Formats: sequence, structure tokens, C-alpha cells
Amino acid sequence: MFEKLKPLSVRATLAACVMAAGVGGVNAGETKVGLLLPYVGVYAALGNEIDAGFTLALEESGMAGDFVIVREDTEVKPPVGLAKARKLVLEDEVDVIVGIVSSGVLGAVRDFVDGAQVPLIVANAGNNDATGSRCSKYVARVSFSNAQINRPMGQWLYDSGVRTAYTMASDYAAGHQTMAAFSEAFIAAGGEIVGAEFTPFGKTKDFGPYLSKASAAKPDAIYVFYAGGEAISFVKQYASLGIKGDIPLYGSGFLTSPLYVAAEGPAAEGVVTGAHYAPTLDIPENNAFKAAFIAKTGKAPSEFAVQGYDAGRVLVEAVKSGASGREAIATAMSKVAYTGPRGALSIDPATNNVVQNIYVYETVAGDNGLTQKLIGQIDNVADAVNGCQF
Ligand code: BEZ
Repeated sequence: MFEKLKPLSVRATLAACVMAAGVGGVNAGETKVGLLLPYVGVYAALGNEIDAGFTLALEESGMAGDFVIVREDTEVKPPVGLAKARKLVLEDEVDVIVGIVSSGVLGAVRDFVDGAQVPLIVANAGNNDATGSRCSKYVARVSFSNAQINRPMGQWLYDSGVRTAYTMASDYAAGHQTMAAFSEAFIAAGGEIVGAEFTPFGKTKDFGPYLSKASAAKPDAIYVFYAGGEAISFVKQYASLGIKGDIPLYGSGFLTSPLYVAAEGPAAEGVVTGAHYAPTLDIPENNAFKAAFIAKTGKAPSEFAVQGYDAGRVLVEAVKSGASGREAIATAMSKVAYTGPRGALSIDPATNNVVQNIYVYETVAGDNGLTQKLIGQIDNVADAVNGCQF
């Protein structure tokens, strides 16, 4: 998939004056971007939403004509993601890769981009290692790390009176890292994990047997990581099996993402989650972003839209600062800091992971369907260095 973003008229005139075609088939002064996202599979909706946010950021900057976009589909499969990253770098000769939704795909791609010295702006995948023990000066993340969201939630649940928890998650890197961070913090606070289950990733249609086991353990709360289609199925089955009335459900925000909470329906009401963004965040930067995203897509944005938007904005800021080419973009992308839709955002120079607030919200019924009621905020959450050395 190859697309040159439509330039503004002034940019078009300038671009027409550029005679020489440079490396990778782009004109001098243009930046070639590989947008590496899932467009099919269990995270397809997430990929499309990130793409929409990213495109909005470039359009808003007035510099859309300075970027050439090549889209590739990871299919949420690590070997496919790696093959597509290799194609973007070796055949398309992109200056920078943006995207990646799955922690598994990021784990597969990290060594390749590091070795090829191609900057990667991670727009979702939370794999802790990519900004910890396997950090790279070529990898910066504007989304979150799996620990960053769930470690504070361990303490938050305990402080809210929860003493015993049962954990459930998709059986791959993101699920394991999420539950490790939550459980460690919850136990350190004084809580007890009374059971844990990992369900086959992308394959589990019937959560009934797992939910029955969780219910039988009689915990104060169930804490989970599910996203995309799995989140919709899980929340609906939690309610239809009658567990909703007995045991409260908590998790990372992807469980009740505004992207698909309408598909979960009343089953999602009362679920409490932690995330780095909620559309109900009432700050001028978010209100402006929401209006622009609604004008572009006809719907309110989710955390995935914001991640795509901020990935685009980090890239634009880097190019605006004069960065051109792989090495310069890698250096500049780590220095970006601003207040955006989610509040203050900066890239931690010690890890290249984003530093940001974590918000706790309850999904409640509103005038126009389900909405997010903010009930907690943990400011400026940064990860420990976790062995990162550049
Ligand atoms: C991950 O694999 O890191 C991930 C996927 C979807 C939502 C959140 C995290």
C-alpha cells in the first residue's frame, strides 16, 4: 500500500519545484514513513484508529505534503510484522517506521530496526523490554508500557479496598507483562492474588470455563487484560454468565476502550479501568483534538487515535526541528515534549518511553450512550530504567 498524502496547495507548488528524486524515490526534503499496523485480525480496528489519528496530525501540521506514507499490514503476527519491517527498510527505504500494535510484533521487530539503525516510533505495543532491557536509541514509544499502566492500578485497587484479586489475560507478551506489573504492585501494597489464568490469544471464543474458575475462587475483584475483539467477547460473557452482579471487574483501559465500548453495551457499565487517555478529559488540548477528530471521522477518539496522533506529532516536531534522514530523526524524536490531548507528554531520556498521567475511569451510561467517568489520576508516571542502556 503506497500513498502520498495530499499536499496543501502551497506545498504542492513548492514540491513541484523540486527536481531531484532522492533516496527511496522521495523528493529532496520529503520524509518517507512506513506505517506498520494491523489492518486485519483481532486488532484491525485498533490499527485503523491509529492510522486515522496519525493522518490527522500530519494534516493539522500543514506539512502533510512533506511526508510519503507506505502502509504495511502486520496481521498481528510477529513473523509477518518482521517481514514487513524488512520490506519497508530494505525495499522502500523508509526514513522512519511508525506503528506496531502487538507486544509480540514489537518483540520481533526490535532487533532488526536497532541493527538497521532505522527510527521506530511505537504507537501502541506496550512491550516493557523495548524501553527497558532491550531499549534502543532507534526505538521511542509514545503510547505506554504494559507496566506503566498496570503497576499504578495495583496500588489503586488496594487503596480502593480490594484485598484479593483473580487475574486473567491473553496468553502473550502483553498479557504476561500486564499481570506481572499489576500483581507485583498489588501484593506489595498488601493484597493477595488468589488465582491467575492466561487464555489462548486470538483464539478464545468461550471465556465461560475460565470465568467459572475465577468466580469459584470468590475474589474481591477480577483484574484483566483484553483488547479489541477479545475485550468485547470477554465483557459480554462476564455479564451474561451472571458474574457481573457478584464480582467487580477491573483492568487496563483497553478492556472498555471508547473505540468499541458501544459493542459491549450495558455489560460494560460499572467496569473500572486505568489508561493514559479518556475522551472525557476536560482540558483545552483534548477538547480541540476531539473536535478535529470528530470532524474528520464522525466519531469520538479513543486512546488508539491519540497514540496515532501523538506519533504523528512527534514525527512532525522532529522534522520541524530540522531533522532529516534516519539518524537525525532518531535523535530528535527522543527530545519532544508538549501538552497534548492526554495532558503533559514527554519522552524519558533514560528509556525512550513516554512519561504521562494515568487516569482511572468507570464506564457509565451517559446521555449519548456509554461514557467515561474519571475517578482517579496518577501524575507523571515514568518507568524504572529496567536495565536500559543506550
Ligand atoms: C500489546 O500487545 O502491547 C497491546 C495490544 C493491544 C492493546 C494494548 C496493548
